[in-house]
Amino acid sequence: MASSSKAATSEGGAGHGDGVGRRDFLFIATGATAAVGTAAAIWPFLNNMNPAADTLALASIEVSLNGIEVGQAIKVSWRGKPVFIRHRTPEEIQAARDVDVSRLPDPEDDAKRVQKGHDDWLIVVGVCTHLGCIPLGTAQGETRGDYKGWFCPCHGSHYDTSGRIRRGPAPKNLEVPTYTFVNDTTIRIG
Ligand code: FES
Repeated sequence: MASSSKAATSEGGAGHGDGVGRRDFLFIATGATAAVGTAAAIWPFLNNMNPAADTLALASIEVSLNGIEVGQAIKVSWRGKPVFIRHRTPEEIQAARDVDVSRLPDPEDDAKRVQKGHDDWLIVVGVCTHLGCIPLGTAQGETRGDYKGWFCPCHGSHYDTSGRIRRGPAPKNLEVPTYTFVNDTTIRIG
């Protein structure tokens, strides 16, 4: 009896130990499979995130300013976004400079939004900072809003001749992208 009981205890103990071991192994093996599976699933995604050569080429663009008359503006596409390039009149520059910056929703000096020696050129990303509409005011004949810059009709945001928000729900000024003057008539955006 005693030995049978001992054997039963011993068998039970051994069985319990094996069971745990198997379960551990199964758990580890499943975990490893899951990790490999996840890695395999992530790889194509990460691989897709490597910029292709043509995407890299569009990371920066060169734009000729030749032919954009004073008072005119054009729209170009950069990294899938519109960029407005405006050749400002002396009056538009003066209007941008005459503003009491401390009263603006997003206070910013005009001088900080243009490049020294090229303050007749204003370059901004053409995406309204409210909900992302493309404001009007670049093409000839489009309304430029109450501050003669751009007007976003989606919810009524008015931007001035420096691309700063002056009235309406947009919280920020139109973004100035990174750009450099390659020469007097060419800029590189990006
Ligand atoms: S998206 Fe421009 S005002 Fe709402």
